[in-house]
Amino acid sequence: MQDVLQTPRLTLRPLRADDAGPMSFWAARHEVAAMTSVPHPYPPGAAAAFIERATMGRLREQVWAIDGTPSGAAAFLGVVGLKGADADPVRTLGYWLGPPVWGAGYATEAAGAVVDAAFAETPAGAVGSRVYVDNLASRRVLEKLGFAAVGEIEEFNVARRAPVHALRFRLERAAWAARSPAAAE
Ligand SMILES: CC(C)(COP(=O)(O)OP(=O)(O)OC[C@H]1O[C@@H](n2cnc3c(N)ncnc32)[C@H](O)[C@@H]1OP(=O)(O)O)[C@@H](O)C(=O)NCCC(=O)NCCS
Repeated sequence: MQDVLQTPRLTLRPLRADDAGPMSFWAARHEVAAMTSVPHPYPPGAAAAFIERATMGRLREQVWAIDGTPSGAAAFLGVVGLKGADADPVRTLGYWLGPPVWGAGYATEAAGAVVDAAFAETPAGAVGSRVYVDNLASRRVLEKLGFAAVGEIEEFNVARRAPVHALRFRLERAAWAARSPAAAE
């Protein structure tokens, strides 16, 4: 899939070595780790190692930095990723943002662009995601993008040191095309 996706306010671009500072700063926040599989406490060097693996194509997902500048110059706000290979029938969406920029619609904008690209650029029949049942903001993001809850799962969360109830969400290609006819053309 394309390395750079442009949205009205954001540039989704490949991670760069200089993202390691802000990435480790925000990923270390308990509010982020408590809702994701980000390790907690966040180990020193983990962001640089993750970025290096991403740059070398050694992750099982494509990850974009969510950058708040039109040119993708430097303003790292968070990440959005899509797991799986282009030929996989279902891709898996994940995302997180630094807490200071929550509530501005950025996650919906970034995840929406990745979902559009997944359906436009690959033969994927569906995009899935998992969200903890108490993560109302992320559930709302998925609902705004047309995802529907299709099941439940229990996951262990490292930051909470406890199992957490999660919902499996899915957006089928047909539902996406019905909501985004222009993007589906
Ligand atoms: C979840 C997260 C990505 C949302 O990012 P964001 O940029 O604030 O999301 P958006 O602004 O695009 O949309 C959030 C929506 O949730 C709503 N919302 C936020 N907090 C809420 C709450 N406590 N209860 C109900 N709705 C809530 C917002 O009002 C908004 O909906 P609206 O546009 O209808 O008003 C961000 O909070 C985050 O990074 N959290 C930690 C990591 C995480 O949860 N990642 C996702 C794992 S599944």
